[in-house]
Amino acid sequence: MSAKKDLRIGLIGTGFMGRTHSNGYRRVPNFFPQLAYNPVLKAVCSRNREKVQAFADQWGYESVETDWRALIARDDIDAVDICTPNDSHAEIAIAAAAAGKMILCEKPLARNVAEAEQMVEAAEKAGVQTTVWYNYRRIPAVTLAKQIVDSGKLGKIFHYRANFLQDWTISADVPQGGTGTWRMDVDAAGSGVTGDLLAHCIDTAMWLNGAISDVSAVTETFVKERMHQLTGKVQPVGIDDACIFHCHFANGSLGLFESTRYARGHKALYTFEINGEHASIRWDLHDLNRLEYFDHSDESIVRGWRSIHVTDGDQPYMDKWWVPGLGIGYEHSFIHQVADFLKSLETGEPCSPNFRDALETQKVCEAVIESANTRSWKDTGVQTFTM
Ligand SMILES: NC(=O)c1ccc[n+]([C@@H]2O[C@H](COP(=O)([O-])OP(=O)(O)OC[C@H]3O[C@@H](n4cnc5c(N)ncnc54)[C@H](O)[C@@H]3O)[C@@H](O)[C@H]2O)c1
Repeated sequence: MSAKKDLRIGLIGTGFMGRTHSNGYRRVPNFFPQLAYNPVLKAVCSRNREKVQAFADQWGYESVETDWRALIARDDIDAVDICTPNDSHAEIAIAAAAAGKMILCEKPLARNVAEAEQMVEAAEKAGVQTTVWYNYRRIPAVTLAKQIVDSGKLGKIFHYRANFLQDWTISADVPQGGTGTWRMDVDAAGSGVTGDLLAHCIDTAMWLNGAISDVSAVTETFVKERMHQLTGKVQPVGIDDACIFHCHFANGSLGLFESTRYARGHKALYTFEINGEHASIRWDLHDLNRLEYFDHSDESIVRGWRSIHVTDGDQPYMDKWWVPGLGIGYEHSFIHQVADFLKSLETGEPCSPNFRDALETQKVCEAVIESANTRSWKDTGVQTFTM
């Protein structure tokens, strides 16, 4: 009987993503028992000792740190997991790479392309394994969409459209900056819905449909000033509250993307649709176990959109879960990413998207913001996006 190898995790940030990732590490050994590596929750870091200790007790971490530098300096940590706001990703990742740690980093990779490039350079120079948590790829119905597109069933692709709609910032009383509302502060977040929500749509889109070559965007900041939690002063808002862009893909298809935090009634409506010469597919996060599929080659009297319940053992990841017909949830996308990262350590293959892949998404985000600011088309500089 061969003993499993430990992957000793040091997780930084105990908010929303700190919980989803911790859940992923804990569940993987139960549902992916064949993996050679076993995640060990070695240490967790957050700035408040009492709170981080409570988190460690709740999730089963062996120890706590209150300074991420101390966590990175430890020689009993193999992989650093960055679950902090966007303004700290680059500094932490570059230090982790210099210490020879593997890095799992939350998205967007950074606030801008300049930071992201430094992160790629640091990780590649150190030769450490990286992954970025664009987790929607690993929802089985989305992975199935990738298999269908790659099989050629859709034929030539004409259209890709995606939405990511929320409504939580409509009130002018929502502050910016600080705990809970760092996303509203451009210095902490880098951008608004573009880096927060459209980054997911762009990652999925380029994974499914290849590189986005150029973009034309409009953005709007509906509430111009908000109280800043850290200064206590009313300050200008620097983020995009809403963003709409259209684009060309390198394969000749057209893309249309919309994201906002002002779509009353929508909490997290992520949808995408792809229209090809022979068939179309569409997916909706609110019904995440289903993939809608229309095949024009069906006999005309029964032709129509079919709703594929992606729960069979021969569909992506589903042989690891229950029995056909029983669905899984949002949290499983993170469990799958942990499993795929551990598998990548066995195979030596990258765990996509790695830092270099996520840099390409960052380039599109930056081109979108520049296009909106200059009211002009912008080339993204993304040449290929094949994984
Ligand atoms: N993959 C996804 O779907 C997804 C969803 C939400 C957030 N995110 C990304 O995850 C990251 C974190 O977002 P969140 O929603 O978990 O935020 P959050 O506000 O819920 O949690 C952030 C955590 O980081 C901690 N933190 C902040 N600065 C720190 C520092 N210097 N040292 C140690 N800890 C520090 C905070 O105390 C908090 O525990 C962001 O980059 C965000 O874009 C990704």
